[in-house]
Amino acid sequence: MHQVGPGRQAMTRLMLGRTLERICKAVLLLCLIHFLIMMILYFDVYSQRFDLFRRNGSRTNTNVSAGTAHHYFLYNVTRANATAACLTTSPSPQPEDQQTPSPKPLPPCPESPPGLVGRLLIEFSSLMTMERVQKENPNVTNGGRYTPPDCRARWKVAIIIPFRHRENHLKYWLHYLHPILRRQKIDYGLYIINQLGEETFNRAKLLNVGYSEALKDSEYDCFIFSDVDLIPMDDRNIYHCYDQPRHFAIAMDKFGFRLPYAGYFGGVSGLSKKQFLKINGFPNEYWGWGGEDDDIYNRITLNGMKVSRPDVRIGRYRMIKHERDKHNEPNPQRFNKIQNTKNTMRKDGISSLSYRLVHVRRFPLYTNISVEIGKPPPRPFKG
Ligand SMILES: *[C@@H]1O[C@H](CO)[C@@H](O)[C@H](O)[C@H]1NC(C)=O
Ligand SMILES: *[C@@H]1O[C@H](CO)[C@@H](O)[C@H](O)[C@H]1NC(C)=O
Ligand SMILES: *[C@@H]1O[C@H](CO)[C@@H](O)[C@H](O)[C@H]1NC(C)=O
Ligand SMILES: *[C@@H]1O[C@H](CO)[C@@H](O)[C@H](O)[C@H]1NC(C)=O
Ligand SMILES: *[C@@H]1O[C@H](CO)[C@@H](O)[C@H](O)[C@H]1NC(C)=O
Ligand SMILES: *[C@@H]1O[C@H](CO)[C@@H](O)[C@H](O)[C@H]1NC(C)=O
Repeated sequence: MHQVGPGRQAMTRLMLGRTLERICKAVLLLCLIHFLIMMILYFDVYSQRFDLFRRNGSRTNTNVSAGTAHHYFLYNVTRANATAACLTTSPSPQPEDQQTPSPKPLPPCPESPPGLVGRLLIEFSSLMTMERVQKENPNVTNGGRYTPPDCRARWKVAIIIPFRHRENHLKYWLHYLHPILRRQKIDYGLYIINQLGEETFNRAKLLNVGYSEALKDSEYDCFIFSDVDLIPMDDRNIYHCYDQPRHFAIAMDKFGFRLPYAGYFGGVSGLSKKQFLKINGFPNEYWGWGGEDDDIYNRITLNGMKVSRPDVRIGRYRMIKHERDKHNEPNPQRFNKIQNTKNTMRKDGISSLSYRLVHVRRFPLYTNISVEIGKPPPRPFKG
């Protein structure tokens, strides 16, 4: 008998072990089944929710009783009472179930968007038509507006182009810039400010008009001022605002891809609303070609800001070749005037702007704002 004892003990231990093992397995299996059922229910609910909102997004919930029961399950699943709540079948709709869900907040747009391609080939020899450009840009909405669909842009940008008789250049600008701006994930509107009549051209005043008119449209907080004949050759030159007033067109082909002089601020520039107001906008009294950009540069430095610029390899531009416009002769007074910015900038600027708005027309790719801005004061007679 004594010899059998240990054997039996071993046997019972073994059997106990086996039973335990089986129980463990059973528990594991149950867990697995539970998990599977949860998953199935979860996906079922998920697809129903999805279907519900996709099939009828505009509906303000006439009949969601079927969906509501599932919602309970969804919301309660994380709680200790999950299973109990799971069995609740008599839903009393909650207010939050009756509203269409607000869209998920978008993530902020990346600092350097991944879709950028860098250096671009820009040429002006192919025939360009407005129909073609429209076909290329189906996602630009009426009046030349665009918002990135997948992220929240940091700035709301109004792009202002002073304009007269340059329809052909505009087509190239639209052809190249809309896709670039889309890749740059810019939230923007495009405004062509058309000076009516044949008086001397006044670029800076048109830019002031663009600022005022764009703000009637939307709450822009960034303004980019571009000539119609300047096309960036690199999409890493991002068209939004910066800590300091921005000069974008720093390396134009016509200047041998260099800055012509240190204080150059012409071609394409950008200021936030705050920066623009700090310098009282742009001068209204520069009639004819030249000087106004130097005045703007002076305004910036006199107000304690400095110009920020992209890398010289990135800030490259191609200019569409053309003959000098009629009624935009070099302004002979420009050298005198830029000496006086300090005295004139408080009186002359966005605070003193006056013009006559003639019409606003929305085209698929831009808004055309036509204005009468007057004419230069009579030249003082010099004997
Ligand atoms: C959405 O709901 C409205 C009214 O509730 C209905 O007229 C319309 O047909 C529905 N649309 C779809 C796609 O179910
Ligand atoms: C809501 O759904 C229930 C059952 O699913 C149905 O009997 C009822 O007619 C529906 N009500 C409306 C307004 O569609
Ligand atoms: C769990 O359910 C019981 C009975 O339905 C309820 O009294 C208790 O408040 C619930 N606990 C939680 C955390 O909801
Ligand atoms: C969870 O279920 C309880 C009923 O058990 C319900 O009163 C409660 O509103 C539910 N919570 C949510 C977030 O739906
Ligand atoms: C326009 O938007 C749609 C939907 O967001 C997208 O599928 C399509 O690729 C876009 N087209 C262009 C030219 O970007
Ligand atoms: C804008 O409107 C004016 C006046 O109708 C017109 O002369 C000009 O060509 C238009 N410009 C553009 C770019 O549409």
